[in-house]
Amino acid sequence: MGGGPAGLLLSHLLHTSGIEHVVLESRTRDEIYRTTRAGILEASSVSTLVDAGLDRVLREGDRHDGIALRFDGESHRIDLHGLTGRAVWLYPQTEVFTDLADRRAADGGDVRWQAEVTEVLDLGTDHPGVRWTDAGGAAGGTERELRCDVLVGADGSHSTCRHTLPESLRRHYVHEYPYAWFGVIVEAPRSAPELVYTASEHGFALISQRTETHQRLYFQCDPDEDPSGWDDERIWGELQRRVAGGDGFRLVEGPVEERSVLRFRSSVVEPVRHGRMLLAGDAAHTVPPTGAKGLNLALADVVVLHDVLTTWFARGGNGRADDDLLDEYGRRVSERVWRAQHFSAWMSRMLHSHPAESGFEARRRVAELRTLVDSEAGRRFLAEGYTGWGPIITEGAM
Ligand code: PHB
Repeated sequence: MGGGPAGLLLSHLLHTSGIEHVVLESRTRDEIYRTTRAGILEASSVSTLVDAGLDRVLREGDRHDGIALRFDGESHRIDLHGLTGRAVWLYPQTEVFTDLADRRAADGGDVRWQAEVTEVLDLGTDHPGVRWTDAGGAAGGTERELRCDVLVGADGSHSTCRHTLPESLRRHYVHEYPYAWFGVIVEAPRSAPELVYTASEHGFALISQRTETHQRLYFQCDPDEDPSGWDDERIWGELQRRVAGGDGFRLVEGPVEERSVLRFRSSVVEPVRHGRMLLAGDAAHTVPPTGAKGLNLALADVVVLHDVLTTWFARGGNGRADDDLLDEYGRRVSERVWRAQHFSAWMSRMLHSHPAESGFEARRRVAELRTLVDSEAGRRFLAEGYTGWGPIITEGAM
């Protein structure tokens, strides 16, 4: 269930392994495409895509070897590649989605858009299933039922699948943040060659890029902020005062084409298996966008899940293979998930001002940033987390 990047990558990998499957997605392809999402891919995510035969990222993505941390009105470059040997790619999630959706279509994949799942059936048995309504096309409104060996819930942060995990078995770790991001797409040339994560006395701002003509910028705001109350002048004023400094850095301004508020939430659900259902991507965990980890974690889940499923099917599959083997998936992804939780929460806390922050805490955060950038060990710690923690399938795991 779910035709976002996690569901479609799994579908593509299952196809290459000859495992029959159907993808059910409640939205239209266009609705998913039009959802603006983050844009940073770790090197291992790029390898996953390239190994899967999807190499447009190498031609059209932008490799970034560093990022800047900006505070006290000064930028400090973190040389990601120099410190770790790894780079990241700026390649928006919508492009990853397009590559996967196009490839599934070209390979004749069975992806049902506008398929509304109304009920998950018989999870405790070896023939779980779903009842769903086919909302698209001439067959609109038809109720259908589908049975399978394994059901995968890759249906996003509002996951229907997650809610079918019995309350008594489910641990849901949640952390809410008292701030959000105001995100804009602007028509303007780049203001900086690499991403700039800025902490200022007026709050956080992130300068990211998209194309020669359009840029992606964010600034910290209240979670209940109403984007319609912000005209272009007010948005640029807020961004400029957050990045201002003694070095004279200014953003190149242009018309604001899109504005929205992104809420922050850290969450992890455990276990990720219940009977023959497994959760992947945002359905299993969400992170605040500061560490740019969400999509990367989802792709990493799927690579491991595909590996576990192919082993499970090879050992006999339904009725013959040991279901405990499916727990390998949760065991193998958990460490990366929690590392990413820590990294995203740490970056968020270090760079944002808490609404009720004391003067002491504000000065302490600047000292933390200063200590970090002045220490090679500190810069490397950040770079290791930002670029990811090495290959997804570790030696001996396959
Ligand atoms: C983005 O370009 O949208 C982006 C980049 C880095 C982040 C979050 C979002 O940490």
